Amino acid sequence: MAYLMLTGGRVVNSSGCVDADVLVRDGKVEAIGELAGLPIADAERVDCTGRLLLPGGVDVHTHLDSPMMDTTTSDDFASGTRAAACGGTTTLVDFAMQAPGDTLLESLEAHQRKARGKAVIDYGFHMCVTDLYDGATEEFAEIVQSGVSSFKVFMAYRGTLMLHDGDLFEVLRKSSAVGGQVCVHAENGDVIDRLAADLFAAGRTGPSSHEISRPPSTEIEAVQRAIQIARMADSPLYFVHLSTEGAIEAVAEARAKDWAVAGETCTHYLTLDRSLYDTPGFESAKVVLTPPLRTQEHREALWRGLRAGTLGVVSSDHCPFCLEEKRRLGQHDFRAIPNGGPGVEHRFIVMYAEGVRRGRISLEKFVDLTATAPARQFGMFPTKGAIAHGADADIVVLDPDSWTTISAKTQNQRMDYTPYEGWKLPGAIEKVYARGELVARNGKYIGTEGRGRFLERSSL
Ligand code: URP
Ligand code: ZN
Ligand code: ZN
Repeated sequence: MAYLMLTGGRVVNSSGCVDADVLVRDGKVEAIGELAGLPIADAERVDCTGRLLLPGGVDVHTHLDSPMMDTTTSDDFASGTRAAACGGTTTLVDFAMQAPGDTLLESLEAHQRKARGKAVIDYGFHMCVTDLYDGATEEFAEIVQSGVSSFKVFMAYRGTLMLHDGDLFEVLRKSSAVGGQVCVHAENGDVIDRLAADLFAAGRTGPSSHEISRPPSTEIEAVQRAIQIARMADSPLYFVHLSTEGAIEAVAEARAKDWAVAGETCTHYLTLDRSLYDTPGFESAKVVLTPPLRTQEHREALWRGLRAGTLGVVSSDHCPFCLEEKRRLGQHDFRAIPNGGPGVEHRFIVMYAEGVRRGRISLEKFVDLTATAPARQFGMFPTKGAIAHGADADIVVLDPDSWTTISAKTQNQRMDYTPYEGWKLPGAIEKVYARGELVARNGKYIGTEGRGRFLERSSL
């Protein structure tokens, strides 16, 4: 029996903080309280005086080893989950893309193979439905029963990923019938494609056109439409990566009527400004991600939305492509730049620093947004998302008096840049435990290889 005792720290859960010791036995939290005096001779004791003990982060939006826009994301399950662990995230839910011509079950199995034996933290999947072939919805029950209890659909990227409204309706209807929930990428893809074609035809071929082709209204309209379609289907709905004030208003309105509508935003929409698109040359391709970054007005609305509970989750949307790869594909046409950016490694510390330390959210709210609420929303709570008796001992030891400087040179993500280059943030992630194993220390992975387990998530 392996015991670990973290002594003298402040244990933070979404429900409150307590100064307490934490006893871990065989990877699970055994007890929380005044335990240091207990005569457990073989316990490994770790002094956590002055440190915060936080639930390991749960990031429900990543794209690892994922085909996207004629390329593949740069992190596989080994590098991406190592980076996550170093940054305080001990669980992720990744998107399993439907491969053209393959069934959903075949595509899911292919994505499972990419993760098995490589992931170093526990992981689950959302099943992306990009082609509703005859019989596709008949596979939904088996997919949900296998522990993949959520689907993702796109309202943008016509010709590759997008479903038309009738298919969106059908996915919602059939998914909710088997206890699945549907995550929606809400943008009006057809309007975006038209705006993008116009910009290109006018000779505006560079990366800054990405933002112009995706104005806030393209998100807001799609959010409003998806809510109505979900009503017709009598189905719950979860919006990924919301970025605009109008979208939050639409979600708030639906929630005020008790409709089952939930939403997330991402670290970058809360912290980065659209002015990054004004950087000359190809540099702004670093933030060619979808939806694009917005103005301060939208950012403030997002923080308000988090505080009010309209948005319940902050994820990373880690969808990494090196700048060189973006250049190779999209140097002459912004429409071909693979959409996405890195984030899984820095979501936790950026949210702690920009949220808690800037006084925008409480420490408990931070824990809720980055761990508890995503675990609840996607059927992993209470095993994940809390430091509580019986939960997995996924624990981040954070030193609030130390500092973190972010740099591409020192990051673990397999990337040649980070949008947070040079940011010096209060707080440092000292140690990360995953199921009781010390997997990362001071930003370096020191755990066992391939130790991550597939999480069978519960259904609605
Ligand atoms: O920029 C992003 N997010 N890329 C594509 C993946 C997604 O979530 O839509
Ligand atoms: Zn998306
Ligand atoms: Zn994404």
